[in-house]
Amino acid sequence: MNVALDNSALADLATPLLAVAYFSDDAAHGAEFVALDARVGGRLSQLAGEEGFVGEPGKTLLVHTSDLAQKRVLLVGVGKASELKPVDLRKLSAVAVEEADKRHLATVVVALPAAVDVALAVRYAAEGAVLGAYRYTTWLTDEKDTKRWLEGVRLSVAGADLATLKPVLARANAAAYAVNMARDLVNSPPVECTPRYLASIAETIAKDENLECIIFDEARIAAEKMGLLAAVGCGSSEPPRFIHMTYRPAGADASTPQVALIGKGLTYDAGGYNIKPTGSLEDMKIDMSGAAAVLGAMKAIRAFAPKIIVHGIIPSAENLVSGNAYKPGDIIRSHNGKTVEIMNTDAEGRLILADALSYAEKLGCQKLVDLATLTGACMIALGPFTAGLFANNDGWRAAIEAAAERGGEDFWALPLSKKLRSMLKSPIADMKNIGERWGGAITGALFLQEFIGKATWAHLDIAGPASNDKPEPGTPRGGTGFGVMTLLELVSHEG
Ligand code: BES
Ligand code: MN
Ligand code: ZN
Repeated sequence: MNVALDNSALADLATPLLAVAYFSDDAAHGAEFVALDARVGGRLSQLAGEEGFVGEPGKTLLVHTSDLAQKRVLLVGVGKASELKPVDLRKLSAVAVEEADKRHLATVVVALPAAVDVALAVRYAAEGAVLGAYRYTTWLTDEKDTKRWLEGVRLSVAGADLATLKPVLARANAAAYAVNMARDLVNSPPVECTPRYLASIAETIAKDENLECIIFDEARIAAEKMGLLAAVGCGSSEPPRFIHMTYRPAGADASTPQVALIGKGLTYDAGGYNIKPTGSLEDMKIDMSGAAAVLGAMKAIRAFAPKIIVHGIIPSAENLVSGNAYKPGDIIRSHNGKTVEIMNTDAEGRLILADALSYAEKLGCQKLVDLATLTGACMIALGPFTAGLFANNDGWRAAIEAAAERGGEDFWALPLSKKLRSMLKSPIADMKNIGERWGGAITGALFLQEFIGKATWAHLDIAGPASNDKPEPGTPRGGTGFGVMTLLELVSHEG
């Protein structure tokens, strides 16, 4: 699906479908709508009135014009003009793309509202088009399920200077395609998406994007004394992998700041001996969504060209049951030497992340951020669309919040409550891997914090927003690719 810019007058753009933003406060209708409405003698506003269409966000009204070069007009509700944020334009173009494909059209034009800064409008609308066109069709065999009608989208930016917008469009494309790649990985079934598969994807990305990439196999994981990763992985005949990718900006030296992006890569989480029940098992291929977000960010990183060194680190394993599996009651020694009493084999994400966090700090990274589908408790606390954000540093938390705002992703800060730390005490090891019933997202984060030394660190619990039960404009059902946008924004504003 190709996204192009067109700076000719909107009236001259011949298209089978033109999508136009429609504001709910009609005193402030956008210039594009007003001009278009005038060209059809006020028929659009008349029809909107008759249909009771008031521009509620997400609602649409399709009008056949027949006498214009724009055969159909899709009015897309975007709410109040005064409340419109540039990032909302993702939805505008996503809705346009979905409508066009549903109608078997090959092309669609999206009129970008003049009220929004044109560079931001191009960025978000282009992202929305690519994200809205996403489908996971790899395993569908009937052509009627796999055929895509839409070939291209044109964003109408009447009168704008295309030369300055071209790099904006290129970045938007890179970011959105990276999100779609992350979605593919999350949607891919565990029979395909194993730790070795994630490693091969990382190697391909590294080759294509000119990044460094080292993969530790099970022997190297043992040699590196990553005991926690090895323990989680040993219940499966699919061996674990530890993935380490590096992006270095031109001219980087020993004084260049280093940031680590660390993603939980549980390609399947059955829970181990604390096995999950039916109803929970079916979704657990998504437990590598943190890894998918890191791979997505590394895929698009060259387009953003951050000034810092960025490490993409993924501990990956399958959490299964077998004669080799680790057991409740085991005591395991971690990469940094601390011992963990396993009280629940289903609290495995924090174990593999612990080894990755100490590895990243040893590398020399000053700032770390991990992304993990870590706890059901975080979904209970924040619902399915908001990720939990824990940080040991106010500036880093604020940087992530600002990045998330620009990236259009939803986070909410949760506390690293010192009082709950005692829940992790073990009488016979340095700590247990679970706390008590209450505050499960917090005790998960506190466990991770035990493996941080001096580094600035944040933990993003993405268990909720990593996947979608129901489709939404721009975010089809299944893996969402959540995290990619925030990570790209974060690293490009560092240094
Ligand atoms: N991968 C799960 C968390 C999860 C649950 C992600 C639902 C997405 C949707 C994690 O490994 C897990 O099993 N967590 C346990 C922790 C508990 C044993 C302390 C949980 O949340 O129940
Ligand atoms: Mn688990
Ligand atoms: Zn898990």
